[in-house]
This record gives sequence, C-alpha cells and structure tokens, in this order.
Amino acid sequence: MIVLGIETTCDETAVAVVVDGHEILSNIIASQTDLHAEYGGVFPELASRRHLEAILPTVEEALRVAEVRPEEIDLVAVAQGPGLLGSLSIGLNAAKGLAFGWNKPLIGVNHVEAHLYAAMMGKENIPLPALGVIISGGHTVMVRIEAVGEYEMIGATVDDAIGEAFDKVASLLDLAYPGGPLIEKLAKEGNPEKYPFRAGKVKGRPWDFSFSGLKTKVLYAVKGQNSSRDAPSLIDEEDKADIAASFQRAALSDIVEKSLAAARDFGCASVVLGGGVSQNMRLREMFHEESCLPIFWPEKELCGDNGAMIAGLGKELFEKRGGDPLSIEPVHRIPFESISP
Ligand code: KG4
Ligand code: ZN
Repeated sequence: MIVLGIETTCDETAVAVVVDGHEILSNIIASQTDLHAEYGGVFPELASRRHLEAILPTVEEALRVAEVRPEEIDLVAVAQGPGLLGSLSIGLNAAKGLAFGWNKPLIGVNHVEAHLYAAMMGKENIPLPALGVIISGGHTVMVRIEAVGEYEMIGATVDDAIGEAFDKVASLLDLAYPGGPLIEKLAKEGNPEKYPFRAGKVKGRPWDFSFSGLKTKVLYAVKGQNSSRDAPSLIDEEDKADIAASFQRAALSDIVEKSLAAARDFGCASVVLGGGVSQNMRLREMFHEESCLPIFWPEKELCGDNGAMIAGLGKELFEKRGGDPLSIEPVHRIPFESISP
C-alpha cells in the first residue's frame, strides 16, 4: 500500500511517500525555521503563507524522489490537528484536492499520535502495553499504548510544552530559535549541578507536567530575582553554560523520572518516545542509564515534524477504520483520548 503523507501543523511543510507503513521512499521537509528565527517562535500568518507557497512543490518533489506516479498512490494521509489552524488548513485542503483529483481515499490523522508512531514504524517487536511519551515544541503527553490507535491518557503538561521551555530558555540566553539543539550543545560545557532548578509539580496530579515555573527560575538566574523579561542580562559566558546545563538536567530528569514511574504503575513493558525533544542525546543516555525496560526512539529524521510518520500512521488507521469524507475540517486542539474511534 503506497501512502502519500502530508504534514503542515506548524512550521514545516512536509510530504512523504511510504510503502506499507514503514518503507520510506521519500520524506521531504521544507523547513521554515529561518523565516521564524527573528521572532523567536512561530509567526502563524507567515507560516500559513509559506505553507501555501511550498505545499505543491513539496508534493511534486516527494513523488519525484520516490519515483511514484499519482495513479500508484493508494491513500492520501494528512495531519488534521492539533496545530495552527491556518497552517493545518493548507495541508488539509491540498490533501482533499489531491484525493479528489486522483480519486483516492483520504484519511486525517492526529499529529501527536503520529509522533509516537514514528518510533514504532517498521518495528514489530515492541512489547505492549508500552508507555508512550511525546515531547515536542507543542506537546508533552504520556499515554499507555495498548496497540496502534488504542491509548489511555496518563498525563500532560498543564502549561508550557517541554520543547517550548527549551526554546524560551534559549531565547533568555540569547540563543537562536529553535533553541533545543543549541541548549543541548551549550549544556555540554556547563555544570548541571550549579543551579538547583527543578520542574514543577502539579498538586494531586502526579503524572502531569509543569515547566513554566522552571522557566521563571531561569529568568531570575539570568536577569536577577523578580526581574522582567526585558531586563538586562547579568551573566557571563560560563554562567550561561551552567544555566543551560542545569535547566536541561531539571527538564529532562523530570521526563525520565515520571516516565519510568508511570511505566511501572501502569504495567507497561516498554517505553516509546517521539517528538522533537526526543532527538536530545543526553535524554537518550539518561533513559538508557536508568531504565530496565526497553526504550524505543524514532530515527533522527523522524523525531521532528515529517510526512513519513503521517503516512505510516495513516496506513495503519485506514486498515482499522477506513478513510474519512472530504468534508473533514482541521482541528486546532484534539484531546488525545479522542484521536482514535
Ligand atoms: O516535534 P517538533 O519538530 O515540532 C512540534 O510538533 O512541536 O519539535 C520541535 C521542538 C522545538 O521546541 C525544539 O527546540 C525541540 O523540539 N528540540 C530539542 C532538540 N531538538 C529539537 N529540544 C531539546 N534538545 C534537542 N536536541
Ligand atoms: Zn510535532
């Protein structure tokens, strides 16, 4: 089964051609990070405009690299949400137009679920139930995975997503956007124990996450107690590396500790990670040092937003529940529980 997968939830216009849910023939990502860098985050109107320019050339490129003709496509899969509404509607309208014009079925999939699927793609030996952990710029979610398409919600962030916290801390340290990889790099030169930062706890909800207090602690370390964001920075280069290392230790150890505790309490036999932050090598080391369960990661090119994970998940779900009508709409927020029928 040959599936075209389209992803435009945020700032990547991404299209892939995937055979049977795992053989990736092409995975083209037209990134917009340069466009948004000067704003320190994604500028929604600019994102939609760039998606509109990039979507059809990216589809053509994905077909060309895959050496697949439109008539050979069996299914068009598209990320239906969650994400920026303007961006989502460009991908969704393109997918609808292609499905209609080529006379192929269409399926809308959940972007967050697809991040998890990225680590499961082509792997048949993942012990289930598994603890699924999605850590990206927009999401921090833990679920129990019974099977692809069957999940039990365990916890989520109550404020910032972990990737968003990396990006905001990076901006406080005058690092470029997206800040996650730059914090990881700088943290290698710093002392992770220098600042006693800790991620937040959510009262009565042991499986939820909170990163906004941690971000405020970093702000005060950089600019002085109770300072505002536009106050001048008081730190030197050495402090900067120590802050990056201490922040990274605090944020990542919260993910590792809660994930392993949840895996135990919810009877999971493995841990599956996905989302942009899962590229962080320190995180991978920490999980492997501390877990006695097998851990599954996406390939590097499948960690961030991409069309291959959408195509792969689209195929699995199409086999379970069939396609969607051309009338489906983009969904800005989708609770994880309702992503599968
Ligand atoms: O999954 P993704 O590409 O987009 C969303 O769906 O949000 O994730 C992007 C996020 C950004 O916040 C970025 O800073 C973060 O992933 N990220 C990292 C690393 N690489 C990307 N965070 C920490 N360490 C990294 N190496
Ligand atoms: Zn994403």
